Amino acid sequence: MRLDGGSALVTGGASGLGLATAERLLETGAHVVLVDLPASAGAEVADRLGARAAFAPADVTDPAAMEAALDTAEARGPLRALVHCAGRGGPLRLVSRDGTPGSLETYTEIVRVNLIGTFNTLRLAAARMAAGDEVEGERGVCVLTASVAAYEGQIGQIPYASAKAGVVGMTIVAARDLASRHIRVCTIAPGLFDTPILNRLGDDVRRSLAESIPNPSRLGRPQEFAALAAHVIENPMLNGETIRLDGSIRMQPR
Ligand SMILES: NC(=O)c1ccc[n+]([C@@H]2O[C@H](COP(=O)([O-])OP(=O)(O)OC[C@H]3O[C@@H](n4cnc5c(N)ncnc54)[C@H](O)[C@@H]3O)[C@@H](O)[C@H]2O)c1
Repeated sequence: MRLDGGSALVTGGASGLGLATAERLLETGAHVVLVDLPASAGAEVADRLGARAAFAPADVTDPAAMEAALDTAEARGPLRALVHCAGRGGPLRLVSRDGTPGSLETYTEIVRVNLIGTFNTLRLAAARMAAGDEVEGERGVCVLTASVAAYEGQIGQIPYASAKAGVVGMTIVAARDLASRHIRVCTIAPGLFDTPILNRLGDDVRRSLAESIPNPSRLGRPQEFAALAAHVIENPMLNGETIRLDGSIRMQPR
């Protein structure tokens, strides 16, 4: 799918994988709208990225705010790509050390942001794409973000792993659902990437995480995620698939 002259929506675009993807998509000639929380650095980041970038403050679980973000994108050009990177972790044990059951509120909140937020963003973006014209036989491409935690969630990751497994599960269904409208859907499942999400860990932990990756034995670079997202958008045969991007890591229980 060619993006030049069209627009792309990148959620979580103020930071990490989303920011690198926004930078990469700007190179294609697209208008790029960064969606992120109002308190994020989205406005400064969009300013720095130049005239074809804009910031739309929105929580991805909020239908009205996401419709407004899509209006911002469509005012700049027809929506041709969604790269949905917004998400966050949140530790939770099923049963805590003192025997208390894990918090239902915490579980619900992490699933809400990561899974419900993905569905909300995907349904609204797909509806805009479906109403648009075809370009070389396609109306749009949606790239979602899961995690290797969808397959090998570690102890303490039960809400995050559940949500990301939900994103993997929706991928083929969404691709089938949107096939007749010529809209593709793929998901990227990153391993360990060097983004602010890992900043709260000390250098020693980050080093040992990097060493646990077989090859290349280092944290992934956000630009490597962005390169795959751009390739998914370009390659019309990629559809309905979740692609692990992880240097062949298989996470241990803890
Ligand atoms: N970095 C990794 O190692 C890694 C590994 C696997 C999966 N992921 C996934 O990749 C995605 C991007 O992560 P990242 O590493 O770039 O993290 P990040 O913290 O750098 O960026 C995430 C962005 O999402 C935004 N965000 C969070 N909740 C939001 C909401 N409700 N509405 C709108 N924006 C929201 C945050 O403000 C932030 O700017 C996430 O879905 C994360 O789960 C990351």
